[in-house]
Amino acid sequence: MSMSDELEGKVSLVTGGSGDIGGAIAKRLGQSGSTVVITYVGAEDLANQAVDEINADGGNASALRLDQRDPNEIETIIGRVSQDYGRLDILVNNAAWNIGIPFPNLDELTAEIWDRVLETNLRAPFLLARAAASILKADGGGHIVNISSAGGISPGSSSIAYSSSKAGLNHLTRCLAVAMSPEVAVNCVAPGLVENTRMANRLPDAVSNAARKQAILGKVGQTEDIAEQVLTFVTSTSVTGQTIVIDGGLPGSMR
Ligand SMILES: NC(=O)c1ccc[n+]([C@@H]2O[C@H](COP(=O)([O-])OP(=O)(O)OC[C@H]3O[C@@H](n4cnc5c(N)ncnc54)[C@H](OP(=O)(O)O)[C@@H]3O)[C@@H](O)[C@H]2O)c1
Repeated sequence: MSMSDELEGKVSLVTGGSGDIGGAIAKRLGQSGSTVVITYVGAEDLANQAVDEINADGGNASALRLDQRDPNEIETIIGRVSQDYGRLDILVNNAAWNIGIPFPNLDELTAEIWDRVLETNLRAPFLLARAAASILKADGGGHIVNISSAGGISPGSSSIAYSSSKAGLNHLTRCLAVAMSPEVAVNCVAPGLVENTRMANRLPDAVSNAARKQAILGKVGQTEDIAEQVLTFVTSTSVTGQTIVIDGGLPGSMR
């Protein structure tokens, strides 16, 4: 896709840009003219690959390491972006962690796993929004897009902890939309199964096959579908507090 200038002069921070969906989102924002900073925690090579792809395409991208379970690292990274660019227009809370634990296996879902999932998937998006609030508000047209999951609407996903973290993220979206208005719009994309992603590959086969079979449009989402919705949100000035499901149409996630 060729470059456009819709987001010219804007700066975006995409957490988990070393991941499949985060990489696609960063690429789409970069193609639209935004400077893009992505984060990774372990996969430095994949982060560099995503950065190289965006820059080869005429964009302006860089990568920073962030373990978002650590509140201090969150403060540091927002400080770094402020210092390097003097502005932040778009925060995409995309990074998340999951592990496949079938819902009935209650004993396998330990307190440690619960905390790791909730700290990464729910507490960190809040702390990132809190740390970035003043710089996002500064220009009057800031955006946050949270990436949750259809599993946060209907009870089915990699684990109970993951579903619960994403349900929390859907509601955090509404709460932050109120808290950060009128300067910042806060919205959420809730993917169902997204094909060709490492995270989808960690789902139990029964879960992914059921999603494919039940999608009333005959297919589930691709990473590009998620990225396109993020772009739609960040180029709108009249939508906030909304969660949109992208899953090929699963009756269970229609609310
Ligand atoms: N794939 C799907 O089918 C699907 C479905 C529904 C929702 N989603 C949601 O879509 C988003 C992206 O998923 P994906 O498929 O692209 O997953 P992914 O490829 O596994 O990427 C996850 C990203 O999160 C980062 N991350 C994990 N733990 C972190 C931590 N403690 N601190 C900072 N970053 C951390 C990873 O960094 P490293 O690469 O450095 O490890 C990676 O960049 C997630 O919010 C996920 O819940 C995905």
